[in-house]
Amino acid sequence: MLAIRGLRKSFGGRTVLDGFDLTVEAGEFVALLGPNGSGKSTALRCVVGLETPDAGEIEVGGTAAMVFQKIHLVGRRNALDNVCSGALGRLTLRRSLVFPHDVREEAMACLERVGLADRALDRTARLSGGQQQRVAIARALCQRADVILADEPVSALDPQAAVQVMELLQALAGEGMAVVAVLHQPELAHSYAHRIVEMRAGVAA
Ligand SMILES: Nc1ncnc2c1ncn2[C@@H]1O[C@H](COP(=O)(O)OP(=O)(O)O)[C@@H](O)[C@H]1O
Ligand SMILES: [Mg+2]
Repeated sequence: MLAIRGLRKSFGGRTVLDGFDLTVEAGEFVALLGPNGSGKSTALRCVVGLETPDAGEIEVGGTAAMVFQKIHLVGRRNALDNVCSGALGRLTLRRSLVFPHDVREEAMACLERVGLADRALDRTARLSGGQQQRVAIARALCQRADVILADEPVSALDPQAAVQVMELLQALAGEGMAVVAVLHQPELAHSYAHRIVEMRAGVAA
C-alpha cells in the first residue's frame, strides 16, 4: 500500500504540491490524471526519494519502484542484465560486478512474468518501445516492489503496445501490488484502473 498525506513541495518559492493526499491499497490500480505541471511527477518522485518533500507524510508498505516514460534501460546490455540491476539494492558491490546465479534466475522469472523470457539475451536497444517498457517493469519486479509508480508509462508507445502495458499493470495489481500510473488518456484510465484521481495545481481535485 501507499499513503501520501499532506504532501508539500515548492521549487524556488513556487508551490507545486499544496497538500496532496493519495492512498492506494495493495491490489489497487489508481490512474493519476491532470494537466501538465500539476505536480504528478513531483508527487511520484517524492515517494521514491528523487525529490525531498517540504512537508507531509509518505508511507510505503514495502518497496516502491518507479517506471518512466523515457525508459532508462542500458540499451547495449541485454534484457536479463537490465532486469538483474533491479536487485542491486540488495547486493554488495563486490557481488554485483557479475550478477549471481540466484539473481539471474529471479530476473528470468520476472522477464517471464512480463512475457519476454524469449528476449532475455537480446540487447535491450533492439527491442520495441513496448517491450522495453515491459523490461523496465520486470526490473521493478526484480526490485521486489510492492508499489509500482509508473510515470506516463504508455505515452511514448503505439496503441497496441500501450494496451499490453496497461494489461500488465492491471494484472500486477490483481496479484496484490499497489499500482499508480500517470496517464494522459482518460479512456485507458477508465478501461484499466480501479480508480481515477484527478490532480489540479498540486492537490487531488
Ligand atoms: N526540479 C525542479 N526544479 C524546478 N521546478 C520543477 C522541478 N521539477 C518540477 N518542477 C516544476 O514543478 C511543476 C510541476 O511539475 P511536474 O511534477 O513535473 O508536473 P506534471 O508531472 O504534472 O506535469 C512544473 O511547473 C515544473 O516545471
Ligand atoms: Mg510529469
